[in-house]
Amino acid sequence: MTEPSSRSLETARALIPRAATPGTRGEAYAPANIALCKYWGKRDEDLKLPVTGSLSISMGPLGTRMRIEPAETDALVLNNAPQSADGKAATRLFAFLDLFRPPDLRLKVDSHNTIPMAAGLASSASAFAAAVKAMDALFGWNLSNVDKSILARLGSGSACRSVFDGFVEWRRGEEADGMDSIATPLHVDWPEFRVGILTVSEAEKPVGSTEGMRRTMDTSALYQSWPEQVAIDLPAIRAAVHNRDFPTLGRVAERNALAMHATMISAWPPVLYWQPETVQALRRVHALRHAGIEVYATMDAGPNVKLLFTDSDEAAVNKTFPDLVTVRPFDKI
Ligand code: PMV
Repeated sequence: MTEPSSRSLETARALIPRAATPGTRGEAYAPANIALCKYWGKRDEDLKLPVTGSLSISMGPLGTRMRIEPAETDALVLNNAPQSADGKAATRLFAFLDLFRPPDLRLKVDSHNTIPMAAGLASSASAFAAAVKAMDALFGWNLSNVDKSILARLGSGSACRSVFDGFVEWRRGEEADGMDSIATPLHVDWPEFRVGILTVSEAEKPVGSTEGMRRTMDTSALYQSWPEQVAIDLPAIRAAVHNRDFPTLGRVAERNALAMHATMISAWPPVLYWQPETVQALRRVHALRHAGIEVYATMDAGPNVKLLFTDSDEAAVNKTFPDLVTVRPFDKI
């Protein structure tokens, strides 16, 4: 880790009250989120500061519930399965918790995902957001949600958006220490909004998002156009959310996802997350639109496809995609 970033990490850590001692347990839930305007590329890898802003919708009941309690040794239980201490999930989570805990405190973490792991459904986002919320509850820090978003971002960038429900914007920020790179909710209620999750594969993705972003930034000639694309798409999606203008939102979100994948595919070696079923689903979405159904697609760092539609087209979309898991982001949990 470089000097300036470790100083900047201290700035984020200074949000945490020093004197706090842990209680007996902290428990919290955070939703997964799907970006409508994507985050792809870091300007600071340690602080996970993005090259651009982004905007997402939180997934209501699909997310991570986490319980953290003091223990004899560090232990992670994931969906009722004890994880090996030197495995990928435990190593990453405890390295994150090291940022916030007293050095002599060991923790047992019980985590339940209601979404497939590592399949591009942003399960790491909900996990890191839930971890910050559970630590806040364990220690009684009483952090504001904006401060929680700053800490969650240190686990995985998109986790800062999972601190909130509904539509959430992650502002790029300008400061080197990242204290202005925060997520804020848009406060728009849109009960008719639906997100459908089409799972093409639950296999772990071959290239993680950090490596994928790095490779894209380093080798894709198209990447230079990405911030320009976001500069057009982000305000368009923000306005479409405020106006509840679904066709504009869907069109810009799908275009934004395809533009992001174009930068990845043109990296070297190519970062190609799509499977044949991904393309098949995209073609079905286009055929549905041709038939007058307002449905749009978005994809993240994996082969799965998420469909965007509203309640009036739900029956038609389900007919074409019978295996779709449909989320109502604005239902109260
Ligand atoms: O936060 P990460 O490192 O998991 O990256 C997320 C990247 C995308 O899911 C592809 C886009 C996004 O904005 O969520």
